[in-house]
Amino acid sequence: MFRFPKTILVSLLIFASGFAAAQDAVKFPGVGRNATPKEVAAWDIDVRPDFKGLPPGSGSVADGQDIWEGKCAQCHGFFGESGEVFSPLIGGVTKDDIKTGHVANLRATNFPGRTTFMKVATLSTVWDFINRAMPWNAPKSLSTNEVYAVTAFMLNLSGIVPDNFTLSDKNIAEVQKLMPNRNGMTTAHTLWPGKEFNGVKKPDTQNVACMKDCAPEPKVASFLPDFARNAHGNLAEQNRMVGAQHGADTTQPERKVGAPADTDAPSKPAAPKADGMNSETKAVLALMQKYTCAACHGIDKKIVGPAFMDVAKKYPGQVDYLIKKMQSGGVGIWGAIPMPAQKITDAEAKTVATWIAAGAIK
Ligand code: HEC
Ligand code: HEC
Repeated sequence: MFRFPKTILVSLLIFASGFAAAQDAVKFPGVGRNATPKEVAAWDIDVRPDFKGLPPGSGSVADGQDIWEGKCAQCHGFFGESGEVFSPLIGGVTKDDIKTGHVANLRATNFPGRTTFMKVATLSTVWDFINRAMPWNAPKSLSTNEVYAVTAFMLNLSGIVPDNFTLSDKNIAEVQKLMPNRNGMTTAHTLWPGKEFNGVKKPDTQNVACMKDCAPEPKVASFLPDFARNAHGNLAEQNRMVGAQHGADTTQPERKVGAPADTDAPSKPAAPKADGMNSETKAVLALMQKYTCAACHGIDKKIVGPAFMDVAKKYPGQVDYLIKKMQSGGVGIWGAIPMPAQKITDAEAKTVATWIAAGAIK
């Protein structure tokens, strides 16, 4: 996000409060107002590789372990090793990598997969990502100190800091010097364009319009292969409650570029399809969006937790049992991943449980 030097910002704010505000009002009469510094601060949360933007605070490995076990382990595994929901976060780095700043396993042909800590070069990225996006089902719910703590715990799991370590804004730059892949970042590509581009800083925005002998079809640089499209269930049913990204309906084949748009325009928030359903099912689907059940459960597909249709087969008519399980959580019936207790009210839990107990019909 953009950032002004402080002195300029101060004078801009003085300016904004008087003259500029009046001028804006003339330009777009009756439309909007300038963002307040508080509103700007709420958006301006990025942390840069030099740790500019990092809020002060601290958190210990021990506190981080508690947070991890309560809020992260159900998806990432107790040691960050799980590949069930996403690639493993932890593993594959050695003491030697911490010395050299190059992860040897990235070059090994016999090492299965690449974990986050094998790849990531900048600790700021880990901190920033957790702060803005995790836990997946409740982004931005962690306090600043909790983000420090859980980051410290991940560093400890990776063998980078000792058990009694406390990570803070004061020592994070020192810890950066121990990141296993800190020297492994390549810049010969458009994501972090480096000196390879001869001073052209942003090759991805330096396109020259083709006027002659142009390729008839644009080449798409990346795409989701058909076999992977529905590998994790219907993305449209797994949306976060915040942000502008809404998953495609991955049960349908990809729409070819230029094909007529269907009614499922990507700009519209993708709720599970409720059309043609009875009002009970609609109410249940609304609750599943509200409580992000759909991040972990599909109606007819297993995601992190079992498909509701499978749950329905196991507990026909057992409304009370299902209410209790939603509110208390549990583990071991469907696999090793625990279900966190859901803060769903009694009445809402009853609505969902009645629907499941009656067969979880779409
Ligand atoms: C409900 C499941 C879920 C929970 C709970 C969860 N995560 Fe995640 N996590 C994911 C998914 C899915 C991704 C990949 C998201 C993406 O790429 O948009 C991810 C990605 C990440 C990444 C980035 C990894 C990478 O290589 O890009 C980090 C770091 C992370 N999670 C940390 C945490 C921490 C710390 C917590 C607890 C505070 C947590 N997660 C809780 C599902 C979860
Ligand atoms: C972070 C992921 C996650 C979220 C969010 C989540 N669940 Fe679950 N759920 C699971 C997992 C994993 C299991 C399997 C637990 C087990 O094996 O005992 C499960 C199991 C269940 C079961 C079956 C319990 C049993 O005893 O067999 C029901 C019913 C259920 N979930 C309902 C819900 C509802 C309703 C919501 C939303 C209010 C919800 N879940 C949110 C992961 C989740």
